[in-house]
Amino acid sequence: MKNGLLGGLSPENFLRDYWQKKPLLVRGALPGFQGLLTPNELIELACRDDAQSRLITQKNGKWQLRHGPFVSRCFSRLPKKRWTLLVQDVNHFLPAARELLLKFKFIPHSRLDDLMVSFAPSEGGVGPHFDSYDVFLLQGMGRRYWQISAKQDKRLVVDAPIKILQKFVPEQEWLLEPGDMLYLPPGYAHSGVAEDNCMTYSIGFRAPSYQELTTEFLVYLQDQATIEGMYRDPDITLQSHPAHISSAMLRQVGEVLDKIKWNCTDVERFIGTYLTEPKPHVFFTPPASPVTRKKFVSQVRKNGLQLDLKSRMLCRGRAIFLNGDEYSVKATVRRSLEKLADRFILRAAQDLDNEAFALCYQWYLCGYIEIPDQPAEGEHNLYSLLSSRCS
Ligand code: SIN
Ligand code: CO
Repeated sequence: MKNGLLGGLSPENFLRDYWQKKPLLVRGALPGFQGLLTPNELIELACRDDAQSRLITQKNGKWQLRHGPFVSRCFSRLPKKRWTLLVQDVNHFLPAARELLLKFKFIPHSRLDDLMVSFAPSEGGVGPHFDSYDVFLLQGMGRRYWQISAKQDKRLVVDAPIKILQKFVPEQEWLLEPGDMLYLPPGYAHSGVAEDNCMTYSIGFRAPSYQELTTEFLVYLQDQATIEGMYRDPDITLQSHPAHISSAMLRQVGEVLDKIKWNCTDVERFIGTYLTEPKPHVFFTPPASPVTRKKFVSQVRKNGLQLDLKSRMLCRGRAIFLNGDEYSVKATVRRSLEKLADRFILRAAQDLDNEAFALCYQWYLCGYIEIPDQPAEGEHNLYSLLSSRCS
């Protein structure tokens, strides 16, 4: 099926020919897209202490980086040009942002990271750099001039507070207008400079390094591996050099370490809990006045349920992973919860049985899921959300 977002390419062809391989420019990926929030609304987000924000300024060729939360008056003191405000995880705050992420569901949720939104006045940018992420750079209001290059000298400007390439020789360049989009695979050098007041929506897909995966897996294993016994040496012999580590000691330790084993269930559990683990700054708020379990069941039957904007949910076989925990459920329950994980919202909650309701009620009390105010209906329509914001 062809996809407007991908410039007429089918998701299958995009995955085959572009994903992790080469950039793709799509003119009019979301025609009429002006963005999901105004610059002032982005500034409001940057002032919240539960949001991750950065302000990058450039003065006389020197870069400066400040981390939020900010106070709004700091923005009125900024120069007219050459600065950028970036806010991560905008999907944690704005339902329309999560709707936008769903447009990219042709990439598995396990790879999804967040929606970052930037605002820059004329000449604002974050300099030439490369990211370790796959990213779709969707232009909101204003225009941004993008330059990209496959070839790069990886050396960075010394003493700069952000990663800026010392040498950047652009190979391709485009002026992006509202609704245009540029996909970049990881490691592609790029630099985007605002032509006028400009907002860019970066839909980022994480790609952990092998080192990070290994370190995290070893952390996971440390909670799983229990090996009985203690180091023993009743047959120790006299050493002429007391400082030497004996071969017998090494042998015994080696034999113990050989007992550390893992199987594919461990890999599955590790990856599910690791990928759904909330980021360190993320906290869930339990409902202020929770409804009783009975009322919960009747309201969910009527309105369905939805994930909290900050929740991460993935599935594998009978296992459901939600916010860093694993839940093992029976097949019938899994089918409904799988829909919740896929679409972030479950409309037909009638299928849920007692066991599923018990689990969902537990999640509701933790603030992981919520009951929508309105009965859930039809496909959520990004354009209706956008036009309601634009009108
Ligand atoms: C921006 O939105 O200004 C920066 C996005 C990027 O280069 O990754
Ligand atoms: Co970048």
